[in-house]
Parts: sequence; structure tokens; C-alpha cells
Amino acid sequence: MIAIACDHGGYVLKQEIMKHLQKRGLEYQDFGCDSEEPVDYPIYARKVTDAITGGSCDRGILICGTGIGISIAANKVHGIRAALCTDCFTAEATRQHNDANILALGGRVVGPGLALKIVDTFLDTPFSNAERHQRRIDLIEP
Ligand code: RB5
Repeated sequence: MIAIACDHGGYVLKQEIMKHLQKRGLEYQDFGCDSEEPVDYPIYARKVTDAITGGSCDRGILICGTGIGISIAANKVHGIRAALCTDCFTAEATRQHNDANILALGGRVVGPGLALKIVDTFLDTPFSNAERHQRRIDLIEP
């Protein structure tokens, strides 16, 4: 199950991503926000990190205007590795190397075409399970 949330700066892109997930037959839970009315992105970051740390979802997608604020907020939570990606190379690498469990996107940065490819790359790439990568992840949160 994928947890997804945004602030007002990510609302339009979130609608596109949810349509895409539906087309792919992937299950997701939408934690808001529900319009382009201004809201506070840390609140929405926390809804998704709670879903992941609580075990009801295993991956997350967070979108704000730049992707920066919402990824900073998510990364404060133990067990969360949120990766802000603007291209498919980093989306692939962060799954293989960092076992990132949240993809952060900037709704004012990437267009929908690229964003959907980044989402697919992130969701479809497994962690490498290489010992060196696991060791480095473990060193982030001893
Ligand atoms: C909201 O205007 C904007 O600051 C927010 O979406 C995000 O880009 C913060 O990092």
C-alpha cells in the first residue's frame, strides 16, 4: 500500500499521480490535502510517515511546491528515508542504494510526464540488498 499526500503546491501533481496509480492497479491511500488552499506541509508529511512507521503502508509519495520542505519534515522521523528526486537516475539509485521508503517531488519543479516516470522508476526498483549499502543505511540510524 502506497501512502500519498501533498500540500497546496503539490495538489495538482498529486491528482495526476493518483490517476496513474489507479491505471496501474496499484493500491494507495490519500492523506490530503484536498485543494489548492494553503496548508502546512509538515502536517501532511507526518500523516505519511505515521502510515509507514505504523505499518499500514510500505511506501510513500510526498509532494509540495519544491519537494524540499516536505522531504525535510519526513526525514526527521526515525525509519524514514525520503528522497527528493527530479530525474529517473536518482529515483533508481535511491531505491538501489538507500532503500528510500518515500519519494518526494516538487509540483512546481517537475511536469507531470517526468513525474510519472520518476514515480514508476521509484516504485519498480528494488533495494540492491548489497551489504555495503545496508551497512551505510544502518549507520544513518544506529
Ligand atoms: C508553499 O508555498 C511552499 O513553500 C511549499 O510547497 C514547499 O515548496 C516548501 O518547501
